Amino acid sequence: MTAQLNARGDVAVLVPAAGAGLRLGPGGPKALRLLGGEPLLVHAIRRVAAASSVRQIVVAAPATEVEAVRELLAPVAPVIVVAGGAERQESVSLALAAVPAEIGIVLVHDAARALTPPQLIESVAAAVREGHPAVIPVLPVVDTIKEVGPGEVVLGTVDRSVLRSVQTPQGFRHEVLAAAHAGAAGALTDDAGLVEKAGLPVTCVPGSELAMKITRPLDLILAEALLPLG
Ligand code: CTP
Ligand code: MG
Repeated sequence: MTAQLNARGDVAVLVPAAGAGLRLGPGGPKALRLLGGEPLLVHAIRRVAAASSVRQIVVAAPATEVEAVRELLAPVAPVIVVAGGAERQESVSLALAAVPAEIGIVLVHDAARALTPPQLIESVAAAVREGHPAVIPVLPVVDTIKEVGPGEVVLGTVDRSVLRSVQTPQGFRHEVLAAAHAGAAGALTDDAGLVEKAGLPVTCVPGSELAMKITRPLDLILAEALLPLG
């Protein structure tokens, strides 16, 4: 059944899905690989569409797959599909261009975090609504982290208590994300990094184990096991 979005919602969600998925090994673009018989992108969009304040969803698809992605998602939810770029940041910028100025909150969410619960999407949006210009979901770091130098020699042990693992969706006031992307120079792996560079505060909210990023073959096996939970 096709989901309905909230026409009175104040949130647009950009879903960069144009990556190749090289670390997942041979196969098609990652967003179209199957998890429990359905493409990762379908899992991701179904959960985004279930978040109650989402009014618009924009997917950045691999340039050769735009029409196929439109057809794939038509029965899932009303989405706008644009062609992505060579870098993730470019895919996000291209998707952002489709969001009208009247939508005040923009979330950026990796298709690769296919099992992200709708509640996490809402909690990030709520924190932006409360007045934070930029919000990221995070988890504590569980491994011991070492800094290493030349020859793989350990230079020191980093204080883990001040470190966080960062997930998506990352949420922004619309104009904050637009300004960050307009001024973007180098390629960063996350959008909040652009806002940090602009000197604005970025606020953390609790993330979710289910928002894990499917990157390597092992992650697909883990996600398969998590599927019944989310
Ligand atoms: N992405 C994108 N456009 C790109 C590169 C990445 O839209 N040019 C998207 C991916 O589709 C993914 C998200 O950004 O949903 C996070 O990127 P990552 O996990 O690195 O995915 P891939 O780039 O596909 O994987 P890899 O780096 O292993 O090739
Ligand atoms: Mg990548």
